[in-house]
Amino acid sequence: MTDTQEPYIALSGIRKGYRIGGEAIPIFSNLDLAIPRGDFVAIMGPSGSGKSTLLNMLAGIDRPDAGTLRIGSSRLDQMGEAARSSWRAHHMGIVFQFYNLLPMLTAAENVELPLLLKPLSARERRTRVDKVLDLVGLAGREKQYPAMMSGGQQQRVGIARAIVSDPGLLLCDEPTGDLDRKSADEVLEMLRFLNRELGKTIVMVTHDPQAALYAKRTLHLDKGDFIEEKRAA
Ligand SMILES: Nc1ncnc2c1ncn2[C@@H]1O[C@H](COP(=O)(O)OP(=O)(O)O)[C@@H](O)[C@H]1O
Ligand SMILES: [Mg+2]
Repeated sequence: MTDTQEPYIALSGIRKGYRIGGEAIPIFSNLDLAIPRGDFVAIMGPSGSGKSTLLNMLAGIDRPDAGTLRIGSSRLDQMGEAARSSWRAHHMGIVFQFYNLLPMLTAAENVELPLLLKPLSARERRTRVDKVLDLVGLAGREKQYPAMMSGGQQQRVGIARAIVSDPGLLLCDEPTGDLDRKSADEVLEMLRFLNRELGKTIVMVTHDPQAALYAKRTLHLDKGDFIEEKRAA
């Protein structure tokens, strides 16, 4: 555990752009962001505003061109690709819009995948998989294949896979973008539970203002900067 006065996630002076052919496309020129441990932040913003670029940097998939990116005590901006992937495997879970489950694996096998990188016995893996499937309300569906499940159930498998290694941080990119309202609300209740009861820090990109209400605060990304939404107390 690091100093509690420090934010868990700190981005400072982040510059990030892409190059297409010879042309530079700037996304962020001087982005700052601080997220305390235990926060649940919704990130909203128009298409192309850089939401996925931001999540990819937080996930260590992509590196900023300049600036500092610290999560916990790790300086992701200074780490190479191998160190970032190992960091990712230990410290964060990612929940995707289209679940990203492997269709030829059962629910339990999908959830087990991140554990195959760890020094655990088959029995230990099984215990952890059963525990998180139970937590997301899917006990008894271990042997079902994704195609046999509803979108909401598949996303709960996705959440179980994201938390099976017990990471402190969950990154969610449009986790309810492909779900009907009822399934979306169930998935969002689940995220709220993980935040409130298990203390997971959550950063969720969403287009849905109702989904954002499940978060503790909402940041609007526009023209390379954040504007915090005011909420009635
Ligand atoms: N790998 C890439 N190469 C070039 N341009 C990219 C790449 N990824 C994103 N962009 C551009 O960066 C901008 C922000 O993209 P993105 O982060 O995906 O936005 P959002 O998720 O908010 O829709 C867009 O203009 C997009 O076209
Ligand atoms: Mg995106």
